[in-house]
Amino acid sequence: MRTDFGDPCRSVLEVRPQGNPSSGPENEGNRFRRGISEQDELKLQLPSCAPFEITGSSSDRLPVLPERAVLRTHMKAMQRASERYRAGDMASFYETLTASAFRVSNTSVTLANPELPDCPIVDVSRGFEQLTGYRRSEIVGRNCRWLNKGCPMCPESRVKLREASRQQKKFVGILTNRRKNGEVFQNLLVMSPLRIGNQFYLLAIQADVTNADVDLTGEQDRMHEELNEIVDAIFASIVNAWVAMHSHLDMLPLTRPVPYVEHQLRVLYQPEVYEQAKQQFVVLAPAEAPNSTRLSYVNTFLQVVDSTDEAGNKSSSGLFRRSYSEPSLNDESSMIGGSKRLPEEVLRESLRYLEVGQGPGPVARPRQVKDVEGRVRLAEEPLASEGSGLHPNGQDPSHQAKLGQGLSLSSAAPTVKWKYQGGGEVESSVVVGDKLVYSAAGKRIFALDRETGSEVWSFAAQQTILASGALAGGAFMVGADDHFFYALAEDTGKLLWKFEAGEAGEFTGGATVGEEEGVVYVGSADEKLHAYFLNGTKRFSFEATGAVCSTPALDKTGIYFGDDFGRFFKLDRATGKQIWRQQFPANIRAPARLEPDGIFLSIGDPDESQSGEILRLGYDGSTTWRSDCGRGGRHKCGSCWTAPAVIGDVVIGACGLDSKSEGFIWGLEKDSGKVRWKVQTGNDCQTSSPMVVGDAVVVGCTDGKLYAIGAQDGARRWHFEAQAGIWTTPAMDEHGTIFIGSHDGYVYALEGTSKAGRDAAEM
Ligand SMILES: Cc1cc2nc3c(=O)[nH]c(=O)nc-3n(C[C@H](O)[C@H](O)[C@H](O)COP(=O)(O)O)c2cc1C
Repeated sequence: MRTDFGDPCRSVLEVRPQGNPSSGPENEGNRFRRGISEQDELKLQLPSCAPFEITGSSSDRLPVLPERAVLRTHMKAMQRASERYRAGDMASFYETLTASAFRVSNTSVTLANPELPDCPIVDVSRGFEQLTGYRRSEIVGRNCRWLNKGCPMCPESRVKLREASRQQKKFVGILTNRRKNGEVFQNLLVMSPLRIGNQFYLLAIQADVTNADVDLTGEQDRMHEELNEIVDAIFASIVNAWVAMHSHLDMLPLTRPVPYVEHQLRVLYQPEVYEQAKQQFVVLAPAEAPNSTRLSYVNTFLQVVDSTDEAGNKSSSGLFRRSYSEPSLNDESSMIGGSKRLPEEVLRESLRYLEVGQGPGPVARPRQVKDVEGRVRLAEEPLASEGSGLHPNGQDPSHQAKLGQGLSLSSAAPTVKWKYQGGGEVESSVVVGDKLVYSAAGKRIFALDRETGSEVWSFAAQQTILASGALAGGAFMVGADDHFFYALAEDTGKLLWKFEAGEAGEFTGGATVGEEEGVVYVGSADEKLHAYFLNGTKRFSFEATGAVCSTPALDKTGIYFGDDFGRFFKLDRATGKQIWRQQFPANIRAPARLEPDGIFLSIGDPDESQSGEILRLGYDGSTTWRSDCGRGGRHKCGSCWTAPAVIGDVVIGACGLDSKSEGFIWGLEKDSGKVRWKVQTGNDCQTSSPMVVGDAVVVGCTDGKLYAIGAQDGARRWHFEAQAGIWTTPAMDEHGTIFIGSHDGYVYALEGTSKAGRDAAEM
């Protein structure tokens, strides 16, 4: 190991143009620009660093990120940004957007916050990880000095670097640094202060100039250029956030640029150029960039404007580009979103979009779909899998236990393990707990021993219980026709708390728990979706447009439910505010089935239009298909109030009309909604949601039968017959025992019908 470290200042100081009076030490940028005559000397005198424990191997070359991963990174940043915005933390809102602008860049970029103790790095690019061998997680939160630890540094550079950090000044210089694998290299650092909103940062880019053949003059110019481009990208990222949030809020193709863009264009362009650009933006972006996301719309817009100058000539550096590059390094500090260039009112107006906007939601890959009215519009599908909507206790919103998910259904009919007479019709689907199962009959809520069926406790409500409950936080929670929603201690049935819904506030739909936020969501006939913390304090209530009888379904970002006016809503899970809603022609009492590639929903009206259908929606609420069930009139599947099941490429829905004593279980093609098979039953099956067991479903009908049906072909496996109609959704425990309640007053535990086996959905 070398102990002679050479002259650390040489690498910087020797790079000096001869005899130029203006090249003082405070003008390092110019010094580089004027050329280097002693490159050979520079090469010979490369300083070395003190011995140092090698902490790792040099990072393998980072793979080029696929476009999808880049988009996902951006979207994650957008989601984080909107969360921060909602939390009122504007500084970290901007910071997140800023970082997202360079995170995936192959240029080495570092952003430090000089207002925090010891000026820590707040974010770095992939290029920096590549250059130094350190991963982002090892870097963020630390001062960058560990790169020069043990290495010689010219005192002048050290003073300047410290000054730069303290007083937010520029710095340009070559530093001797060491990678994670111990390798020493010469790091050309170009650093500039940057102001974003009211926050100052230091933005730096690094380049390895160890190779003496590097043209330092050119390199430094290129780095300044790059720094400007990064600033542009940061600016664009912030504008993009506005655009995305604005467009997400309206759930429409963009019809106008957001104020910042508009402002920039209006002041900089002739009115006709502005109009032309706007037109191009609105029309061209989706058509010409079918594979891009909304995030890129603004860039498309910029491109469009970029390529057309005032005289209508194609140009590669149009005015808009100049305007959006405006926050540059020409000043002592660059400005983004500050009041210097952006008038307050424009900024305020832009931010208003964020205030009302609920965040960007899942990333869109725009494609054209028809909505319910047949209008062509852009749809979006989530990039990453949306949440499954599962209950914390393993149940989905339609109260099917998923505990027996790895099981498959045998063709042997089940036998009754136990049955419990509840003393009234059972309409509340059984919820499976660790040791107990929970349900209700007539006006009584009860808990039964899972193994024996013996009653452990019961609680008397004042009216019938039709709704299904949920387990969380030590409570079994369920609403009743007496307008009360009860939270009962899960082991004793003791009343922990209750709340009363408003006028006509019967509870018909089930409750769903958002475990992360500790909130139970439940709809009521008072036309509201109620959200209560698990200690009984109200979180919010959302005014729908009709009775809310559909059990809410949750994914990471949203709360999904329908009402009796035919509206299906997505609320922001973080704020309870509406993100979008869609109008359908009949009541929505079904819990939505949230699958990674779409929302599956049933609608229906057994009394009036007597029509029903099964639908597939995108995560922006657009309709992908409506199944007409091939029965004479359009969309007539009977009335469907249950969550469709999805197994492989088949969607299974249960529907029917009690008034006509007819019922069908439908097997539909997942891609198109076309009928693959149907099974006729003795009466309607419109309130029991099909439970998935391996490659089959189990579903109850009001003819009193519990049907087991193969998903692929609709073949009947077995049926179990109760003494009266089955209105509840079956539940299953991890051993394959099925729990089902009936109008005959019994809760049945059925066994012997499932066996361990591969889930057909995986085949
Ligand atoms: C944004 C930013 C990036 C920096 N990048 C580097 C770098 O790549 N290599 C390096 O040796 N120092 C870098 N520094 C400088 C060190 O953080 C520190 O200022 C320098 O080591 C002098 O301070 P010290 O004497 O307290 O160590 C960077 C500083 C900032 C603010």
